[in-house]
Amino acid sequence: MKFIKLYTRALSLLGSDKKQGWYLAIANVALAMALFAEPVLFGRVIDTLGKVASNESLPVWSEVWPLLAIWTGFGLFTIFCSTLISLYADRLSHHRRHMVVSMYFEHVLQLPLAQQNTTHSGRLMKIMLQGTDALWWLWLSFFRDHLAAIVSLLVLIPIALYMNWRLAIVLIVLCTVFAFLTNFIIRKTQTLQKTVEIHHSDMAQQVSDTLGNIPLVQSFARIQDEVSALKNISNRLLDAQLPVLSWWALITVLNRSATTISILTIVILGTWLFTQGLISIGAIVTFIAFAAMIITKLEQTVNFIHRLAMDAPRLEDFFQMMDTSPEIHDRPDAVDLKHAQGIIEFKDVCFSYDDKHSAIRNLSFTVEPGQTIALVGSSGAGKSTALSLLYRVFDPQSGSITIDGIDIKDISLNSLRHNIGVVFQEPLLFNRSISENLLVGNPEATIDELKQAALSAQALDFIEQQENGFDTQIGERGRTLSGGERQRISIARVILKNPPILILDEATSALDSATETKLTRALESVIKNRTTLVIAHRLATVRRADRILVMESGQIIETGTFDELYQQGGRFTQLVREQFTELPDRIAS
Ligand SMILES: Nc1ncnc2c1ncn2[C@@H]1O[C@H](COP(=O)(O)OP(=O)(O)OP(=O)(O)O)[C@@H](O)[C@H]1O
Ligand SMILES: [Mg+2]
Repeated sequence: MKFIKLYTRALSLLGSDKKQGWYLAIANVALAMALFAEPVLFGRVIDTLGKVASNESLPVWSEVWPLLAIWTGFGLFTIFCSTLISLYADRLSHHRRHMVVSMYFEHVLQLPLAQQNTTHSGRLMKIMLQGTDALWWLWLSFFRDHLAAIVSLLVLIPIALYMNWRLAIVLIVLCTVFAFLTNFIIRKTQTLQKTVEIHHSDMAQQVSDTLGNIPLVQSFARIQDEVSALKNISNRLLDAQLPVLSWWALITVLNRSATTISILTIVILGTWLFTQGLISIGAIVTFIAFAAMIITKLEQTVNFIHRLAMDAPRLEDFFQMMDTSPEIHDRPDAVDLKHAQGIIEFKDVCFSYDDKHSAIRNLSFTVEPGQTIALVGSSGAGKSTALSLLYRVFDPQSGSITIDGIDIKDISLNSLRHNIGVVFQEPLLFNRSISENLLVGNPEATIDELKQAALSAQALDFIEQQENGFDTQIGERGRTLSGGERQRISIARVILKNPPILILDEATSALDSATETKLTRALESVIKNRTTLVIAHRLATVRRADRILVMESGQIIETGTFDELYQQGGRFTQLVREQFTELPDRIAS
């Protein structure tokens, strides 16, 4: 049942290529029908020659050649159909694979981050590559061999019964044995194959995780540990895979034996029927050719089912991922936010990542257009989380967030995110050139605009010193740049985006104090006329904020300007004192 479901689901993914699929199906049926002609004509030719031989006269060509001409005609027709099928089945399945890869990619990119956090990117990629490979193979073999095999079996068996029911029974027994054995092995190996696939996914995750952290592996001298961790997974994988392979090897041997026994039985039974005068030599030849054809088709079908059984867990993983619905999506009546004024209001917002521990509790605050608000507090207080709710990485469990008085859930996601520029705590960069990374902010930007943005972000000097300037490739996650350089690229990127609302999450934490001072000055002009939310541990950087919110355990515990808060003598004062007095104390000790 599960197989049929997977099979029909895979076929339903043909989408816009369905029409071509139908043409291929018709060609397959025509091919299957044409194939019957060959054994029938073969038998007729043998009988004609037999008649001539018994009369001891020379072959009468006028009786044989029409049969040969029809045979040639069918032969040409089957060649034509097979060529068309091979050509178009290949194209169709390759084309569909690319469509499905894009579908999956788009779908996964929309999934909530909660999903991405628990599913490693290596695993997601493995599901995509192996799932789409399995689909490609399924479509290809369905249209190239499998459909023709099923049609042939459905038509050949009744024909065989009509030709000689006694001999046909042998074939029916053979089909039943094949079906029984295949079903038995599938049941035996299903769970094991699922386990194999889990190990394959673990392996993909392990490899991708390790390769993504090579500096860590090398500096902690963990090469051997990582290799042996991979070997462990490999061993577990092989332990699960070998029994599956043994079961399938067994079925191959049993099927082969059943085939040989069936052919022998047909020959013996045919000889006996001939001696009884119940069948002609031509009919025996026809029947054996039929039997050979049926056996080939049966073997094709069993091989197909074998491969499908191996691929089933991959297809299941793929469909399961495709069925995960993005929790955050546009409401049907979502409005487009053109250019926000920048009034932000958080009202009693509560959020938890795991529904057990609160990351944000009853958060309420308002920001007026053009104001700069700073969030400070100890690590893990929930600052990044609070601001990520504004551009809907997650939706709060309760409370509401509005921009210009509109609930952000009523704003289309695209327009919401176009209005907000984020400099992330970890500068996220693509493995592309510097200019391509900057253009993410504004794909339309000219080279002069790129330079201007880089200049404002104090990045122009180091970019121009690179061998290929703006065309320099910066490696995976910008690995070939320093931490501070990466931060400045991500600031330049947001300057190019030019959004009315700006979020700076520890934007200048990796900079030396001279660059930070210059950049802070440059940022002042960027911040002007925009609503800005700044998160900073270095409290000197939030001095000029209109208001500071001090967060602790997901809550705001103090609010005010720098001076007001400092004079209050509360948590903020304590934080400032720690920062400004810790250093001399430490040096002294
Ligand atoms: N993606 C996530 N999934 C689950 N829990 C998370 C996730 N991100 C953060 N947390 C948890 O939520 C809490 C708040 O994290 P958050 O990143 O908002 O802190 P923060 O105030 O920005 O800290 P820092 O100053 O160190 O950046 C922490 O306890 C953290 O462990
Ligand atoms: Mg943070």
